[in-house]
Formats: sequence, structure tokens, C-alpha cells
Amino acid sequence: MSVTLRQLDHTQVRAELTDFAHLLTACVEAGASIGFMAPFSKDEAQAFWTGIANKVEAGDRLIWVAQEEETGQLLGTVQLIIGLPDNQPHRGDVAKLMVSPSARRRGVARQLMLALEEAARARGLRTLVLDTVTGSPADSLYRQLGWIEVGPVPDYALFPDGTPCSTTFFYRALV
Ligand SMILES: CC(C)(COP(=O)(O)OP(=O)(O)OC[C@H]1O[C@@H](n2cnc3c(N)ncnc32)[C@H](O)[C@@H]1OP(=O)(O)O)[C@@H](O)C(=O)NCCC(=O)NCCS
Repeated sequence: MSVTLRQLDHTQVRAELTDFAHLLTACVEAGASIGFMAPFSKDEAQAFWTGIANKVEAGDRLIWVAQEEETGQLLGTVQLIIGLPDNQPHRGDVAKLMVSPSARRRGVARQLMLALEEAARARGLRTLVLDTVTGSPADSLYRQLGWIEVGPVPDYALFPDGTPCSTTFFYRALV
């Protein structure tokens, strides 16, 4: 599978709302703890991505997508939050990394994260922060990519079915 990586502007996010909504609902239905509870509808997902398009337009967020080269199918996405307080111009928060359940373990998330880090470095950012479910596939991914564990917070969030989960915070110094 050949993968194309692209950074999108707000008009491109709005143009692909249906695909984004499909990707998000598939990830939540597969049990990902990424901010939403089951049952999670396509309408709720579209509303979420409309809000993200607005944040991209405001300059608060950057967003990347991974697409299957031949078909253009949306395989995954990740965001970098840069609209932070005035005393943190050198920092970014990584958010909403997700890969379609049918495209996992083929290096899509790794490629998305490397593209994000490269762009963050090019913008002069020095510190990136994120959090993820303790012991999850994403937890393994970030460790493999060199992220440093700050530590876990027990009972931080819920899985879509309501089961509580611990969240581990990580940072990455872009030197
Ligand atoms: C986490 C997620 C983004 C990984 O996407 P992916 O494209 O499958 O990941 P990659 O193929 O790039 O994996 C890279 C490395 O991450 C680790 N990894 C990924 N999935 C894993 C799994 N299920 N179990 C253990 N390690 C895993 C491995 O070290 C892997 O390297 P390897 O395949 O050479 O062993 C994907 O599982 C997902 O979308 N999960 C639901 C949403 C989510 O939890 N997002 C994280 C928000 S913080």
C-alpha cells in the first residue's frame, strides 16, 4: 500500500467532512478512547470536524492526513495544537491521531507522526506534549518514536463503553 501524506487547510478539511466523520466513527466503534462515548453518530462526528475546520482556519491547529495513493481513501489523520498561551510559543500539543481500523499496523501512524514532528521543527517548536491510554497501541507507538513518559494518571478518562482508563502523558524535545 502506497501512502500519501498531506497537510490540509480549512477548506480542504470542510471538503472532506464525510470521510473524516467515517474515520472517526469507525475508530470510536472499534473502542478508541479519543474523546467520545458510544453510541456516536455520523452527525456528531461531522459537527466535531466542522469545529476542527474552524480551528484550522483560526490558525490554532494544523492537520495532516494519510491517504491511499491510488484511491485517495482517507487512512488516518493527526493534529497539532499551536493556539496555546502567549508564554508557550515554542510548544505544541499533539491531538486526535487516528488510523482506520482496516489500515492499521502498516506504518500509517508512524508516518503521520514523523510528518508532524518535521513540520513542528520547521516552525521552531521545541517541546511537544500528548497523552494517551496507558498500555494502548498508541502508547507503544510513541515510545518507539522516542517520546518520553511523564507518567500515568489513573482513572483519567473513559472508553466509549464507559469503562474507566488510565492516561499516560508524554513529551518530546525537538532538538
Ligand atoms: C494508535 C494507532 C494510531 C496506531 O496506528 P497504526 O497506523 O496502526 O500504527 P503503525 O502501524 O504506524 O505502528 C507503529 C508502531 O506502533 C506500535 N503499535 C501500533 N499498533 C500496535 C498494537 N496494536 N500493539 C502494539 N504495538 C502497536 C508498534 O511499535 C508499531 O511498530 P511495528 O508495527 O513495527 O511493531 C491506531 O491503533 C489507532 O488509530 N488507534 C485508535 C485511536 C487512538 O487510540 N489514537 C491515539 C490517540 S492518543
